[in-house]
Amino acid sequence: MFILCVLVAGVSALTTSSVVHTEGVSESPITSEKHTVPGDNCRFRGRDFKSEFRLEGEPVALRCPLIWPHSDASASSHTLLTWRKMNSSQLVPGDEPRLWIKDATLWVVPAVQQDSGTYICTFRNASHCEEMSVELKVFKDTDTSLPLVSYLQISTVAATGLLVCPDLKEFIPNKTGGRVQWYKGSVLLDKGNKKFLRAGDPTRLLIANTSMEDVGYYKCVATFLHKGKEYNVTRNIELRVKKTTTESIPVIIFPLETIPASLGSRLVVPCKVFLGTDTSSNTIVWWMANSTFISVAYPRGRVTEGLYHQYSENDENYVEVALIFDPVTRDDLNTDFKCVARNPWSVQSLHTTVKEVSSTFSWGIALAPLSLVILAVGGIWMHRRCKQRAGKTYGLTKLRTDNKDFSSSLNQ
Ligand SMILES: *[C@@H]1O[C@H](CO)[C@@H](O)[C@H](O)[C@H]1NC(C)=O
Ligand SMILES: *[C@@H]1O[C@H](CO)[C@@H](O)[C@H](O)[C@H]1NC(C)=O
Ligand SMILES: *[C@@H]1O[C@H](CO)[C@@H](O)[C@H](O)[C@H]1NC(C)=O
Ligand SMILES: *[C@@H]1O[C@H](CO)[C@@H](O)[C@H](O)[C@H]1NC(C)=O
Repeated sequence: MFILCVLVAGVSALTTSSVVHTEGVSESPITSEKHTVPGDNCRFRGRDFKSEFRLEGEPVALRCPLIWPHSDASASSHTLLTWRKMNSSQLVPGDEPRLWIKDATLWVVPAVQQDSGTYICTFRNASHCEEMSVELKVFKDTDTSLPLVSYLQISTVAATGLLVCPDLKEFIPNKTGGRVQWYKGSVLLDKGNKKFLRAGDPTRLLIANTSMEDVGYYKCVATFLHKGKEYNVTRNIELRVKKTTTESIPVIIFPLETIPASLGSRLVVPCKVFLGTDTSSNTIVWWMANSTFISVAYPRGRVTEGLYHQYSENDENYVEVALIFDPVTRDDLNTDFKCVARNPWSVQSLHTTVKEVSSTFSWGIALAPLSLVILAVGGIWMHRRCKQRAGKTYGLTKLRTDNKDFSSSLNQ
Protein backbone atom coordinates (compact mmCIF):
# COMPACT_ATOMS: atom_id res chain seq x y z
CA MET A 1 0.00 0.00 0.00
CA PHE A 2 2.83 2.32 0.86
CA ILE A 3 4.58 1.74 -2.44
CA LEU A 4 1.30 2.21 -4.22
CA CYS A 5 0.76 5.57 -2.56
CA VAL A 6 4.26 6.71 -3.44
CA LEU A 7 3.70 5.68 -7.04
CA VAL A 8 0.40 7.46 -7.21
CA ALA A 9 1.99 10.49 -5.60
CA GLY A 10 4.80 10.43 -8.12
CA VAL A 11 2.41 10.42 -11.00
CA SER A 12 0.46 13.22 -9.41
CA ALA A 13 3.41 15.53 -9.71
CA LEU A 14 2.65 15.60 -13.41
CA THR A 15 -1.08 16.14 -13.54
CA THR A 16 -3.96 15.76 -11.18
CA SER A 17 -6.26 14.25 -13.75
CA SER A 18 -3.91 11.36 -14.49
CA VAL A 19 -3.88 10.56 -10.79
CA VAL A 20 -7.56 10.02 -10.89
CA HIS A 21 -7.13 7.34 -13.52
CA THR A 22 -4.10 5.69 -11.93
CA GLU A 23 -6.05 5.27 -8.78
CA GLY A 24 -8.97 3.67 -10.50
CA VAL A 25 -6.71 1.09 -12.08
CA SER A 26 -4.65 0.32 -9.01
CA GLU A 27 -7.67 -0.59 -6.95
CA SER A 28 -8.89 -3.23 -9.32
CA PRO A 29 -8.54 -6.77 -7.99
CA ILE A 30 -5.68 -8.81 -9.36
CA THR A 31 -7.03 -12.30 -9.20
CA SER A 32 -10.52 -13.52 -9.73
CA GLU A 33 -10.50 -15.01 -13.20
CA LYS A 34 -12.50 -18.17 -13.53
CA HIS A 35 -12.48 -20.49 -16.47
CA THR A 36 -12.78 -24.12 -17.25
CA VAL A 37 -9.87 -26.09 -18.57
CA PRO A 38 -10.98 -27.49 -21.95
CA GLY A 39 -11.41 -31.23 -22.04
CA ASP A 40 -11.43 -31.42 -18.27
CA ASN A 41 -14.24 -30.54 -15.96
CA CYS A 42 -12.02 -28.73 -13.54
CA ARG A 43 -12.77 -25.18 -12.51
CA PHE A 44 -9.79 -22.84 -12.41
CA ARG A 45 -10.15 -20.50 -9.45
CA GLY A 46 -7.32 -18.11 -10.31
CA ARG A 47 -3.88 -17.34 -9.02
CA ASP A 48 -3.09 -17.00 -5.34
CA PHE A 49 -2.72 -13.32 -4.50
CA LYS A 50 0.48 -14.11 -2.68
CA SER A 51 3.67 -15.18 -4.46
CA GLU A 52 6.54 -16.98 -2.78
CA PHE A 53 9.88 -15.25 -3.35
CA ARG A 54 12.57 -17.42 -1.78
CA LEU A 55 16.33 -17.90 -1.60
CA GLU A 56 18.26 -20.63 -3.35
CA GLY A 57 19.48 -23.40 -1.07
CA GLU A 58 16.66 -22.96 1.43
CA PRO A 59 13.55 -25.06 2.07
CA VAL A 60 10.28 -23.89 0.51
CA ALA A 61 6.76 -24.93 1.51
CA LEU A 62 4.03 -24.11 -1.04
CA ARG A 63 0.56 -24.34 0.42
CA CYS A 64 -2.30 -25.17 -1.90
CA PRO A 65 -4.44 -22.02 -1.72
CA LEU A 66 -7.62 -24.07 -2.27
CA ILE A 67 -7.25 -25.78 1.07
CA TRP A 68 -7.74 -23.67 4.13
CA PRO A 69 -5.46 -24.41 7.03
CA HIS A 70 -7.11 -26.76 9.56
CA SER A 71 -9.67 -27.95 7.03
CA ASP A 72 -9.83 -31.74 6.84
CA ALA A 73 -10.52 -31.80 3.09
CA SER A 74 -6.99 -32.85 2.28
CA ALA A 75 -6.99 -35.57 4.92
CA SER A 76 -10.14 -37.22 3.59
CA SER A 77 -9.56 -40.49 1.78
CA HIS A 78 -12.18 -39.50 -0.82
CA THR A 79 -10.20 -36.55 -2.11
CA LEU A 80 -7.15 -36.27 -4.27
CA LEU A 81 -4.79 -33.34 -4.23
CA THR A 82 -2.20 -33.13 -6.98
CA TRP A 83 0.41 -30.62 -8.05
CA ARG A 84 1.88 -29.85 -11.45
CA LYS A 85 3.93 -27.08 -12.95
CA MET A 86 2.23 -24.74 -15.44
CA ASN A 87 2.62 -25.85 -19.09
CA SER A 88 3.46 -29.38 -18.03
CA SER A 89 1.10 -32.30 -17.66
CA GLN A 90 3.57 -34.22 -15.52
CA LEU A 91 2.71 -34.29 -11.85
CA VAL A 92 5.22 -33.13 -9.29
CA PRO A 93 7.13 -34.42 -7.40
CA GLY A 94 7.68 -37.12 -10.05
CA ASP A 95 10.91 -38.87 -9.11
CA GLU A 96 12.65 -35.74 -7.80
CA PRO A 97 13.81 -36.55 -4.23
CA ARG A 98 13.99 -32.87 -3.22
CA LEU A 99 10.20 -32.54 -3.61
CA TRP A 100 7.38 -34.15 -1.68
CA ILE A 101 3.74 -33.51 -0.75
CA LYS A 102 2.47 -33.57 2.78
CA ASP A 103 -1.15 -32.64 3.50
CA ALA A 104 -1.91 -29.73 1.15
CA THR A 105 1.69 -28.55 1.00
CA LEU A 106 4.35 -29.06 -1.64
CA TRP A 107 7.81 -29.13 -0.06
CA VAL A 108 10.98 -28.27 -1.94
CA VAL A 109 14.11 -28.91 0.10
CA PRO A 110 16.37 -27.28 -0.84
CA ALA A 111 15.05 -24.99 -3.62
CA VAL A 112 17.12 -24.21 -6.71
CA GLN A 113 16.53 -21.42 -9.24
CA GLN A 114 15.12 -23.90 -11.78
CA ASP A 115 12.23 -24.57 -9.39
CA SER A 116 10.88 -21.08 -10.19
CA GLY A 117 7.54 -21.11 -11.96
CA THR A 118 3.81 -21.32 -11.55
CA TYR A 119 2.51 -24.37 -9.71
CA ILE A 120 -1.07 -25.56 -10.04
CA CYS A 121 -2.73 -27.63 -7.35
CA THR A 122 -5.83 -29.64 -8.24
CA PHE A 123 -8.42 -30.70 -5.71
CA ARG A 124 -10.64 -33.54 -6.87
CA ASN A 125 -13.33 -35.79 -5.37
CA ALA A 126 -16.26 -37.74 -6.81
CA SER A 127 -18.35 -34.65 -7.57
CA HIS A 128 -15.91 -31.79 -7.65
CA CYS A 129 -12.74 -30.50 -9.28
CA GLU A 130 -11.03 -27.18 -8.64
CA GLU A 131 -7.63 -25.76 -9.44
CA MET A 132 -5.62 -22.80 -8.29
CA SER A 133 -2.11 -21.61 -9.06
CA VAL A 134 0.67 -20.18 -6.95
CA GLU A 135 3.87 -18.55 -8.11
CA LEU A 136 7.33 -19.46 -6.81
CA LYS A 137 10.47 -17.48 -7.59
CA VAL A 138 13.84 -18.63 -6.30
CA PHE A 139 16.61 -16.04 -6.18
CA LYS A 140 20.33 -16.25 -5.50
CA ASP A 141 21.14 -14.82 -2.08
CA THR A 142 22.75 -11.55 -3.18
CA ASP A 143 22.33 -7.88 -2.29
CA THR A 144 20.55 -7.22 -5.57
CA SER A 145 17.83 -9.77 -4.83
CA LEU A 146 17.28 -8.32 -1.35
CA PRO A 147 14.54 -5.82 -2.35
CA LEU A 148 12.76 -8.59 -4.28
CA VAL A 149 12.59 -11.11 -1.45
CA SER A 150 11.89 -8.61 1.36
CA TYR A 151 8.64 -8.16 3.21
CA LEU A 152 7.74 -4.54 3.91
CA GLN A 153 6.99 -3.67 7.54
CA ILE A 154 6.32 -0.23 9.00
CA SER A 155 6.86 1.34 12.42
CA THR A 156 6.15 4.77 13.83
CA VAL A 157 8.73 7.20 15.20
CA ALA A 158 9.04 7.17 19.01
CA ALA A 159 6.68 4.19 19.32
CA THR A 160 7.62 0.61 20.16
CA GLY A 161 8.06 -1.10 16.82
CA LEU A 162 7.42 -4.74 16.02
CA LEU A 163 9.13 -6.90 13.44
CA VAL A 164 7.44 -10.19 12.58
CA CYS A 165 9.30 -13.06 10.95
CA PRO A 166 6.65 -14.08 8.40
CA ASP A 167 5.56 -17.34 6.77
CA LEU A 168 7.26 -19.74 9.15
CA LYS A 169 4.18 -21.80 10.08
CA GLU A 170 5.41 -24.92 8.30
CA PHE A 171 8.90 -24.64 9.77
CA ILE A 172 8.03 -23.73 13.35
CA PRO A 173 4.65 -25.30 14.07
CA ASN A 174 5.08 -24.64 17.77
CA LYS A 175 6.12 -20.99 18.04
CA THR A 176 7.89 -21.08 21.37
CA GLY A 177 9.97 -24.10 20.32
CA GLY A 178 11.74 -22.65 17.29
CA ARG A 179 15.13 -21.03 17.23
CA VAL A 180 15.19 -17.74 15.28
CA GLN A 181 18.14 -15.41 14.95
CA TRP A 182 17.65 -11.77 14.03
CA TYR A 183 20.04 -9.59 12.07
CA LYS A 184 20.09 -5.94 11.11
CA GLY A 185 21.99 -5.99 7.82
CA SER A 186 24.66 -8.55 8.65
CA VAL A 187 24.93 -7.67 12.37
CA LEU A 188 23.51 -10.27 14.73
CA LEU A 189 21.09 -8.75 17.26
CA ASP A 190 21.93 -10.80 20.31
CA LYS A 191 19.67 -11.53 23.23
CA GLY A 192 21.16 -8.86 25.51
CA ASN A 193 20.37 -6.04 23.06
CA LYS A 194 18.63 -3.08 24.77
CA LYS A 195 17.23 -1.64 21.58
CA PHE A 196 15.89 -4.85 19.99
CA LEU A 197 14.06 -7.06 22.45
CA ARG A 198 12.76 -10.60 22.27
CA ALA A 199 9.35 -11.20 23.75
CA GLY A 200 8.80 -14.92 24.27
CA ASP A 201 7.78 -15.71 20.70
CA PRO A 202 11.06 -15.97 18.75
CA THR A 203 9.35 -14.87 15.51
CA ARG A 204 8.81 -11.40 16.96
CA LEU A 205 11.27 -8.62 17.71
CA LEU A 206 10.38 -5.41 19.52
CA ILE A 207 12.13 -2.14 18.70
CA ALA A 208 12.34 0.28 21.63
CA ASN A 209 11.73 3.96 20.80
CA THR A 210 11.73 3.59 17.02
CA SER A 211 13.79 6.25 15.24
CA MET A 212 14.62 7.04 11.62
CA GLU A 213 17.97 5.28 12.15
CA ASP A 214 16.15 1.96 12.47
CA VAL A 215 15.13 2.08 8.80
CA GLY A 216 16.75 -0.66 6.71
CA TYR A 217 16.90 -4.34 5.95
CA TYR A 218 16.55 -6.95 8.65
CA LYS A 219 16.53 -10.69 8.45
CA CYS A 220 15.40 -13.48 10.65
CA VAL A 221 16.81 -16.95 10.22
CA ALA A 222 15.08 -20.07 11.51
CA THR A 223 16.68 -23.49 11.45
CA PHE A 224 14.96 -26.43 9.84
CA LEU A 225 16.15 -29.99 10.31
CA HIS A 226 15.48 -32.53 7.58
CA LYS A 227 17.04 -36.01 7.37
CA GLY A 228 19.76 -35.03 9.79
CA LYS A 229 20.72 -31.92 7.80
CA GLU A 230 20.24 -28.35 8.99
CA TYR A 231 18.83 -25.75 6.64
CA ASN A 232 18.44 -22.02 7.13
CA VAL A 233 15.02 -20.53 6.48
CA THR A 234 15.61 -16.81 5.91
CA ARG A 235 12.99 -14.07 5.77
CA ASN A 236 14.15 -10.59 4.82
CA ILE A 237 12.28 -7.56 6.06
CA GLU A 238 12.50 -3.98 4.91
CA LEU A 239 11.59 -1.70 7.79
CA ARG A 240 10.24 1.75 7.01
CA VAL A 241 9.62 4.28 9.72
CA LYS A 242 6.84 6.81 9.39
CA LYS A 243 6.54 10.10 11.17
CA THR A 244 3.24 11.01 12.68
CA THR A 245 4.02 14.64 13.26
CA THR A 246 1.25 16.94 12.14
CA GLU A 247 3.16 18.10 9.08
CA SER A 248 2.84 14.71 7.47
CA ILE A 249 -0.95 14.89 7.63
CA PRO A 250 -2.50 17.17 5.03
CA VAL A 251 -5.16 19.47 6.46
CA ILE A 252 -7.90 20.81 4.23
CA ILE A 253 -8.54 24.36 5.36
CA PHE A 254 -10.85 25.51 2.60
CA PRO A 255 -13.66 25.29 1.33
CA LEU A 256 -16.19 25.69 4.09
CA GLU A 257 -19.24 23.48 4.44
CA THR A 258 -21.30 25.59 2.10
CA ILE A 259 -20.33 27.74 -0.85
CA PRO A 260 -22.63 30.64 -1.68
CA ALA A 261 -23.19 30.97 -5.41
CA SER A 262 -25.66 32.35 -7.86
CA LEU A 263 -27.16 30.26 -10.61
CA GLY A 264 -25.88 31.03 -14.07
CA SER A 265 -22.60 32.56 -12.98
CA ARG A 266 -19.07 31.24 -13.14
CA LEU A 267 -17.68 30.05 -9.81
CA VAL A 268 -14.16 29.09 -8.74
CA VAL A 269 -13.83 27.17 -5.47
CA PRO A 270 -10.26 26.50 -4.41
CA CYS A 271 -9.53 23.50 -2.20
CA LYS A 272 -6.68 24.75 -0.05
CA VAL A 273 -4.58 22.14 1.74
CA PHE A 274 -2.08 22.89 4.48
CA LEU A 275 1.08 20.75 4.25
CA GLY A 276 3.04 22.29 7.12
CA THR A 277 6.77 21.99 6.48
CA ASP A 278 6.38 19.11 4.04
CA THR A 279 7.81 20.39 0.76
CA SER A 280 7.86 17.09 -1.07
CA SER A 281 5.09 17.00 -3.63
CA ASN A 282 3.73 13.66 -2.50
CA THR A 283 0.34 15.08 -1.59
CA ILE A 284 -2.38 14.59 -4.17
CA VAL A 285 -5.48 16.76 -4.14
CA TRP A 286 -8.58 16.14 -6.19
CA TRP A 287 -12.30 16.84 -6.26
CA MET A 288 -15.26 14.51 -6.50
CA ALA A 289 -18.96 15.04 -7.20
CA ASN A 290 -21.33 12.48 -5.63
CA SER A 291 -18.24 10.26 -5.10
CA THR A 292 -17.44 10.34 -8.83
CA PHE A 293 -14.33 11.89 -10.35
CA ILE A 294 -15.06 15.29 -11.89
CA SER A 295 -14.01 14.34 -15.42
CA VAL A 296 -16.43 11.41 -15.25
CA ALA A 297 -19.32 13.28 -13.63
CA TYR A 298 -19.07 16.16 -16.10
CA PRO A 299 -17.87 14.69 -19.41
CA ARG A 300 -18.91 17.87 -21.23
CA GLY A 301 -16.69 19.95 -18.94
CA ARG A 302 -19.23 22.31 -17.40
CA VAL A 303 -17.46 21.65 -14.11
CA THR A 304 -13.68 21.11 -14.24
CA GLU A 305 -10.67 20.99 -11.94
CA GLY A 306 -8.02 23.71 -12.03
CA LEU A 307 -4.29 23.09 -12.11
CA TYR A 308 -2.35 21.71 -9.14
CA HIS A 309 -0.76 24.68 -7.47
CA GLN A 310 1.78 24.33 -4.64
CA TYR A 311 3.15 27.40 -2.89
CA SER A 312 4.58 28.71 0.39
CA GLU A 313 3.26 31.34 2.73
CA ASN A 314 5.28 32.28 5.84
CA ASP A 315 7.41 29.12 5.59
CA GLU A 316 4.32 26.92 5.50
CA ASN A 317 3.40 24.98 2.40
CA TYR A 318 0.03 24.76 0.73
CA VAL A 319 -1.54 23.09 -2.25
CA GLU A 320 -4.58 24.39 -4.09
CA VAL A 321 -6.75 22.73 -6.68
CA ALA A 322 -9.78 24.70 -7.79
CA LEU A 323 -13.18 23.41 -8.80
CA ILE A 324 -14.50 25.58 -11.62
CA PHE A 325 -18.20 25.86 -12.45
CA ASP A 326 -18.96 27.46 -15.77
CA PRO A 327 -21.70 28.19 -15.02
CA VAL A 328 -23.38 27.12 -11.76
CA THR A 329 -26.68 25.29 -12.40
CA ARG A 330 -29.54 24.17 -10.18
CA ASP A 331 -28.20 20.58 -10.34
CA ASP A 332 -25.12 21.72 -8.38
CA LEU A 333 -27.30 22.58 -5.38
CA ASN A 334 -28.13 18.86 -4.97
CA THR A 335 -24.65 17.50 -5.57
CA ASP A 336 -22.26 16.42 -2.85
CA PHE A 337 -18.85 17.93 -3.64
CA LYS A 338 -15.81 16.60 -1.88
CA CYS A 339 -12.18 17.65 -1.85
CA VAL A 340 -9.74 14.83 -1.11
CA ALA A 341 -6.09 15.23 -0.06
CA ARG A 342 -3.87 12.23 0.19
CA ASN A 343 -0.25 11.47 0.96
CA PRO A 344 1.40 8.12 1.66
CA TRP A 345 0.40 8.31 5.32
CA SER A 346 -3.08 9.68 5.36
CA VAL A 347 -6.21 10.57 3.43
CA GLN A 348 -8.34 13.56 4.37
CA SER A 349 -11.55 14.72 2.77
CA LEU A 350 -14.00 17.54 3.15
CA HIS A 351 -17.58 17.72 1.90
CA THR A 352 -19.18 20.89 0.69
CA THR A 353 -22.40 21.96 -0.97
CA VAL A 354 -23.30 24.84 -3.20
CA LYS A 355 -26.05 27.12 -1.83
CA GLU A 356 -27.92 29.75 -3.70
CA VAL A 357 -26.91 33.17 -2.36
CA SER A 358 -29.12 34.79 0.24
CA SER A 359 -31.27 37.79 -0.64
CA THR A 360 -28.74 40.33 0.70
CA PHE A 361 -26.49 39.37 -2.17
CA SER A 362 -29.11 38.91 -4.81
CA TRP A 363 -29.00 42.53 -5.87
CA GLY A 364 -25.61 41.63 -7.31
CA ILE A 365 -27.19 39.32 -9.83
CA ALA A 366 -29.64 42.00 -10.82
CA LEU A 367 -26.80 44.48 -11.22
CA ALA A 368 -24.60 42.17 -13.24
CA PRO A 369 -25.89 43.11 -16.68
CA LEU A 370 -26.24 46.69 -15.54
CA SER A 371 -22.62 46.80 -14.42
CA LEU A 372 -21.49 45.90 -17.90
CA VAL A 373 -23.37 48.86 -19.17
CA ILE A 374 -21.91 51.02 -16.46
CA LEU A 375 -18.42 49.77 -17.27
CA ALA A 376 -19.04 50.39 -20.90
CA VAL A 377 -19.67 54.02 -20.12
CA GLY A 378 -16.66 54.06 -17.81
CA GLY A 379 -18.10 53.36 -14.34
CA ILE A 380 -14.80 52.38 -12.70
CA TRP A 381 -16.06 52.75 -9.12
CA MET A 382 -18.36 49.75 -9.50
CA HIS A 383 -15.45 47.58 -10.60
CA ARG A 384 -13.38 48.52 -7.54
CA ARG A 385 -16.16 47.89 -5.12
CA CYS A 386 -16.82 44.38 -6.40
CA LYS A 387 -13.12 43.58 -6.30
CA GLN A 388 -12.99 44.36 -2.60
CA ARG A 389 -15.93 42.10 -1.95
CA ALA A 390 -14.39 39.22 -3.90
CA GLY A 391 -11.21 39.58 -1.88
CA LYS A 392 -12.99 39.07 1.41
CA THR A 393 -14.40 35.62 0.78
CA TYR A 394 -13.97 33.09 -1.97
CA GLY A 395 -17.09 32.09 -3.77
CA LEU A 396 -19.19 35.20 -3.32
CA THR A 397 -21.29 36.23 -6.22
CA LYS A 398 -18.91 37.77 -8.65
CA LEU A 399 -19.59 39.90 -11.57
CA ARG A 400 -18.14 38.70 -14.83
CA THR A 401 -15.70 41.58 -14.94
CA ASP A 402 -14.04 40.37 -11.74
CA ASN A 403 -13.71 36.75 -12.59
CA LYS A 404 -10.79 37.17 -14.91
CA ASP A 405 -8.63 38.87 -12.29
CA PHE A 406 -9.68 36.45 -9.60
CA SER A 407 -9.05 33.20 -11.39
CA SER A 408 -5.84 34.34 -12.98
CA SER A 409 -4.42 35.27 -9.58
CA LEU A 410 -5.38 31.79 -8.45
CA ASN A 411 -3.51 30.10 -11.23
CA GLN A 412 -0.28 32.02 -10.82
C1 LIG B 1 -16.33 -32.82 -2.78
O1 LIG B 1 -15.77 -31.63 -2.20
C2 LIG B 1 -16.68 -30.55 -2.08
C3 LIG B 1 -15.91 -29.33 -1.61
O2 LIG B 1 -15.12 -29.63 -0.50
C4 LIG B 1 -17.81 -30.95 -1.16
O3 LIG B 1 -18.73 -29.89 -1.04
C5 LIG B 1 -18.49 -32.19 -1.70
O4 LIG B 1 -19.47 -32.62 -0.79
C6 LIG B 1 -17.48 -33.31 -1.94
N1 LIG B 1 -18.14 -34.42 -2.60
C7 LIG B 1 -17.96 -35.67 -2.24
C8 LIG B 1 -18.71 -36.70 -3.03
O5 LIG B 1 -17.23 -35.99 -1.31
C1 LIG C 1 13.86 8.18 21.93
O1 LIG C 1 14.86 8.51 20.99
C2 LIG C 1 15.04 9.91 20.81
C3 LIG C 1 16.07 10.13 19.72
O2 LIG C 1 16.38 8.99 19.03
C4 LIG C 1 15.49 10.54 22.14
O3 LIG C 1 15.59 11.93 21.97
C5 LIG C 1 14.44 10.22 23.20
O4 LIG C 1 14.90 10.71 24.45
C6 LIG C 1 14.24 8.73 23.30
N1 LIG C 1 13.14 8.47 24.24
C7 LIG C 1 13.23 7.53 25.17
C8 LIG C 1 12.04 7.37 26.06
O5 LIG C 1 14.21 6.85 25.31
C1 LIG D 1 22.89 -20.45 8.17
O1 LIG D 1 23.16 -19.09 8.32
C2 LIG D 1 24.24 -18.78 9.17
C3 LIG D 1 24.34 -17.28 9.26
O2 LIG D 1 23.11 -16.69 9.21
C4 LIG D 1 25.52 -19.38 8.60
O3 LIG D 1 26.58 -19.13 9.50
C5 LIG D 1 25.33 -20.86 8.41
O4 LIG D 1 26.46 -21.39 7.78
C6 LIG D 1 24.10 -21.15 7.57
N1 LIG D 1 23.89 -22.56 7.49
C7 LIG D 1 23.64 -23.19 6.38
C8 LIG D 1 23.38 -24.64 6.46
O5 LIG D 1 23.60 -22.58 5.30
C1 LIG E 1 -25.75 13.97 -7.32
O1 LIG E 1 -26.82 13.34 -6.65
C2 LIG E 1 -28.00 14.16 -6.56
C3 LIG E 1 -29.02 13.45 -5.69
O2 LIG E 1 -28.93 12.06 -5.82
C4 LIG E 1 -28.53 14.44 -7.95
O3 LIG E 1 -29.65 15.28 -7.87
C5 LIG E 1 -27.43 15.16 -8.74
O4 LIG E 1 -27.85 15.35 -10.07
C6 LIG E 1 -26.16 14.34 -8.75
N1 LIG E 1 -25.11 15.11 -9.39
C7 LIG E 1 -24.29 14.61 -10.30
C8 LIG E 1 -23.26 15.48 -10.84
O5 LIG E 1 -24.39 13.45 -10.70
